[in-house]
Amino acid sequence: MDVMAVGQHIRFLKEYVSEPNIVGAVAPSSQFLAAALCWPYQNHQRKCRVLEVGAGTGPITRYLGSILGPDDELDVCEIQPEFIKTLRQDILTQPDFAEAVASKRVNLLTCPVQEIEGVDKYDFVISGLPLTAFALRDVHDVFKVIRRCLKPEGVLSYFEYVGFRAMSSAFAVGSRRKRVRHVSAYLNRKIRTHQIDCKTIFRNVMPARARYFMFNGTSEL
Ligand SMILES: C[S@@+](CC[C@H](N)C(=O)[O-])C[C@H]1O[C@@H](n2cnc3c(N)ncnc32)[C@H](O)[C@@H]1O
Repeated sequence: MDVMAVGQHIRFLKEYVSEPNIVGAVAPSSQFLAAALCWPYQNHQRKCRVLEVGAGTGPITRYLGSILGPDDELDVCEIQPEFIKTLRQDILTQPDFAEAVASKRVNLLTCPVQEIEGVDKYDFVISGLPLTAFALRDVHDVFKVIRRCLKPEGVLSYFEYVGFRAMSSAFAVGSRRKRVRHVSAYLNRKIRTHQIDCKTIFRNVMPARARYFMFNGTSEL
């Protein structure tokens, strides 16, 4: 692990301790998980517009920088001030981004994902949002916004930790247990209706499952 990565792990853990329900993970995603989440975009040929939501310290953003096509556009959304600073100072200043940033093809959106505007704008949405840590209302709103912003043939990639929902449902108590169960049931319905593929990534702090959704032609739940 390089010095920058160590610094990002420490920053991530610090933010998790102060805002566990927003950050929702104890470590940034590995490059293997980042690659899995970017896989649908990486296989795409024509000019694309991509949205990354919940970028954190930028492991997925960095990967996106390494594969961004010469005419492609990338919007990166994050709300934690410390992570926004890292993205601005350490990630979007990397050589991979130089031309895209200079030609304004990369934008940092410092609002909650729920406030992103537009219809049929993006070919790909890549999410690092900790949906299992959210209230059901927020999970619902996030899906509504992503669905509105994605083109009909667009693909959403997101991840969750393997077995995390089942474990939280079993061991959480009181209102947290109720919340996790409702969110989990909602996500299971979404998975049954919209999932087109998934991959399990073991090389990550906590094995993760990358899920790929298309909303075209399927009814809203
Ligand atoms: C689990 S971390 C993932 C960070 C990074 N993508 C990764 O894979 O390591 C979730 C990120 O989502 C951000 N986040 C949480 N709620 C958000 C919201 N409503 N809008 C935008 N970002 C949000 C958090 O600040 C945090 O950086």
